[in-house]
Amino acid sequence: DIPLFSTVASYREWRRRAYDEKKSVGFVATMGALHEGHASLVRRSLAENDLTVVSIFVNPAQFAPHEDLATYPRTLPGDLAVLQSLAEDTMSGTHTPSAVFVPTVHEMYPAGITQDVAAQRGTFVEVTGYSHQMEGRTRPTFFRGVATVVTKLFNVVEPTRTYFGQKDIQQALLLRRMVRDLLLSHPTPENLFIVPTARNPTDSLALSSRNAYLTPREREAAAPTLYAALDAVRKAWAAGTSKAECISTAHAIIKSKADDLAGDNIDMKLDYIEMNDPESFDVLDPCQNRAAWEADVADRPVILSGAMWVGKTRLIDNVILGNA
Ligand code: PAJ
Repeated sequence: DIPLFSTVASYREWRRRAYDEKKSVGFVATMGALHEGHASLVRRSLAENDLTVVSIFVNPAQFAPHEDLATYPRTLPGDLAVLQSLAEDTMSGTHTPSAVFVPTVHEMYPAGITQDVAAQRGTFVEVTGYSHQMEGRTRPTFFRGVATVVTKLFNVVEPTRTYFGQKDIQQALLLRRMVRDLLLSHPTPENLFIVPTARNPTDSLALSSRNAYLTPREREAAAPTLYAALDAVRKAWAAGTSKAECISTAHAIIKSKADDLAGDNIDMKLDYIEMNDPESFDVLDPCQNRAAWEADVADRPVILSGAMWVGKTRLIDNVILGNA
């Protein structure tokens, strides 16, 4: 069985042996409810490192008081079975998930943690100037919670390499910036890797722990619309359509689906769809014409991302346009 560590001290003892044996440590941070998206990160780590550590921790600091901390799926026995099955997939013996770090809230926040940012006291990590765009506009305290917990996790796990999903593209890019800004060495910025989004093979819905909230009807009829809209924009973009037209394509697809489903009592609502600069996260001006765009930044990729409500569930997704 994969060794399970619930305290920082016990994990550190294990990590010290890995240093002694000069073994590389790959790290995948998760909040559990593991699915094939998480598994793809773990497989990548298994392939590239001597040892692989997976953390499972539902981080209170990244949930706003009105968000779903209480109901977030917690499925530890199933998660351990998933990790165990990955181990059995790679029979070579050298490539086996080596440790699972499952701390308590007290272990990660010894001084306590409240979700009310105004009432917090203590040390937090803020990636200023990059936390208010995209996901940060709807969730203004989210990236502060993520940056804080991931800094702590990096300080405990001390990964040689670490893997984050493109599914949460702003999170991955922001953390890479944080690693660079704070001069971290475990990992270095070069050793933070972004892994492509794992999708349902039939309708391309991005896998997510929150998909478990969807009713079967919401899952089948509504949820795949976000990717369908993003993909339509990708195709329009590749065909040379101007950005303004591209974005309106996505809005039209979602609006028409939402109108269809309203009769079925399925409530579907776009939060946002936008194009953003992968360096600054700022919105790219959709009125700017294509020629000016090509002349200006044609060699840079563009993030096309969106969020959509299906009933009480908020789904996010993104694709990269241009030269990734
Ligand atoms: P969680 O949502 O559990 O995701 C853990 C990691 O899996 C993240 O890097 C996320 O981008 C990646 N992931 C999720 N769905 C994916 C998919 N369909 N394809 C590829 N990768 C996917 O993201 C978090 O947890 C937390 O914010 C965390 C970083 C653990 C900090 O608390």
